[in-house]
Amino acid sequence: MTTVPKRPTPPARAVALLPRLLGSCLGVVERVENTQALDRVVTPVQKAVRGLPLGPLRDVLHGRQLGHPLHPVLVQVPMGAWLSSAVLDFVPGAERAARVLIGVGTLTAFPAALAGWTDWAEQHKQQMRTGLVHATANAGAVALFGGSFTVRGRRPKLGRALGLGGLACAGFGGFIGGHLAYRQAAGANKTEPVAHLVEPGWHRLGPVDGLKPGIPERRMLGEVPVLVVRGEDGGVDVLADRCSHLSGPLSEGDIADGCVVCPWHGSVFRLSDGAPVSGPATAPQPCFETRTEPDGALAVRLPGAG
Ligand code: FES
Repeated sequence: MTTVPKRPTPPARAVALLPRLLGSCLGVVERVENTQALDRVVTPVQKAVRGLPLGPLRDVLHGRQLGHPLHPVLVQVPMGAWLSSAVLDFVPGAERAARVLIGVGTLTAFPAALAGWTDWAEQHKQQMRTGLVHATANAGAVALFGGSFTVRGRRPKLGRALGLGGLACAGFGGFIGGHLAYRQAAGANKTEPVAHLVEPGWHRLGPVDGLKPGIPERRMLGEVPVLVVRGEDGGVDVLADRCSHLSGPLSEGDIADGCVVCPWHGSVFRLSDGAPVSGPATAPQPCFETRTEPDGALAVRLPGAG
């Protein structure tokens, strides 16, 4: 007797399709980040965002006081509200609550977007190309949810359909946001590996004598480049050289008021402790303890190394 193979159930077929679908999405995003034609849009939009009169709010939007980007925190509110509204769409009698949640999600998407654009304008080209598509998908979500909010009273079915479309757009935007954060490391602290690359204990870093006051110098501690600055009082400050924002070379930056200014996007770090005084950087620079050896050599030690 021959056995007829069982046809997979619809849920099983959907699960089998998922890896292919995700692979296709990844392929699209990888092509986007290398599509130079997008730069025709990226450049003027970047200029416009940088020109917004945000003042001290710009640092708050970057998340400097928070210690990491603010955008992913703010995004939780619209995503949570929109997702909850979609669940309520299947609950009889919850139409009003679903509409309220859509309104909350749509309104709170604006501050989340402003924080995202502020970060976006200080990223490198590949990240900005991907970010542009991320923002477009999310703008589509806002438009669809806005439409859903508007028509729900008169045409509930259309309202629900628009809501589902908005959720799909927001989901795709979230997928690209994940790519930006984890694959392209936008917003990640680029100095995190330093503490794992430097051995615990004191290390010699060349003579103190060769350092000119106020002139930044780059020296190598094993494979880790460090910024060395001698103050007018003879004290020496040593920070990791690659900027926590996007790895800019701080040793090529300006020294002023006890701080170093990153030459790439203008983040300002205090030399005495590495704290970011001005963004877009949100994470501090690893700061080394220093001492002068009896033979005049500079020695450094990184607290927490190893
Ligand atoms: S690399 Fe962007 S501020 Fe330093």
